[in-house]
Amino acid sequence: MDFIWNEKTLDWFRTASAYTGFHSELASIVRPRLADCETLCDMGCGLGLLDLELAKDLRSVLCVDQSEAAIGALRELIRARGARNIVARVADVNDASAGERWDAVLMSFFGSSLEDIARFLAFCDKRMILIVHEKATAGRCVNAVSLRPKPFGAAEVTGFLTGRKLPFQQTHAAIEFGQPFKSLEDARDFIRIYTSSMLEAAGVGGPAERERLYGDMESRLVETGRADYPVYLPKPKRIAVFVVEKAAQRDSARTSPNRKYGIL
Ligand SMILES: C[S@@+](CC[C@H](N)C(=O)[O-])C[C@H]1O[C@@H](n2cnc3c(N)ncnc32)[C@H](O)[C@@H]1O
Repeated sequence: MDFIWNEKTLDWFRTASAYTGFHSELASIVRPRLADCETLCDMGCGLGLLDLELAKDLRSVLCVDQSEAAIGALRELIRARGARNIVARVADVNDASAGERWDAVLMSFFGSSLEDIARFLAFCDKRMILIVHEKATAGRCVNAVSLRPKPFGAAEVTGFLTGRKLPFQQTHAAIEFGQPFKSLEDARDFIRIYTSSMLEAAGVGGPAERERLYGDMESRLVETGRADYPVYLPKPKRIAVFVVEKAAQRDSARTSPNRKYGIL
């Protein structure tokens, strides 16, 4: 099941990021890991909110996503913020040309299989930044704050990287990324839109399941006292940030007197 980007989901995502400061906090974890990098490619960038933060310290950033809606919204943000060093491209990452390379490649909540890690590592000159949910969840494990299945979590990534003998470091964090709503109707819409295709795919759709999710969501909502977003669905997002070093880079970093940042 693919990620749904439309006017509503883009608006919810932008609003949640601005309300919680999620991407600026995430950027403060990632930024030091890119201290010796000039170029970055974000595979499956979505709205590119992390890239907008990181680009301030980089020479150029390429954001790639297959969703025209997401890339269109990102281009508007790039224009509005005057970020001249970000290019947003509509493309399938599987079509990435072998000739293109960047100092770092970012995969943030992206990838349907662990093999994607090894595949996209080939496009990095220095390292890959991989951001994943702390825990994988199956398709049927859904509630008001965990709306989508997560194919792999920190344990699976650790097993994969260790098995491939790829040198890595990991950091764990819980960053608030809940959803503010304009009304209860807005909150129900959120649940309906995010869960409909997934529930169908898992074969657990139907009015009873939807009512269960609405009830779950309503029991978790908190009042904010704000006129614009009177209710908020809290969600501490538990994540792991992996830094996967290219082996050759690791060896030269050990011997280079100029290295600014050594991962290992
Ligand atoms: C869960 S979202 C994550 C978005 C973003 N990286 C973030 O952290 O907010 C996954 C994104 O991958 C994009 N995507 C999925 N398959 C893709 C592919 N083959 N090529 C390019 N983008 C893809 C989707 O459109 C979606 O924006």
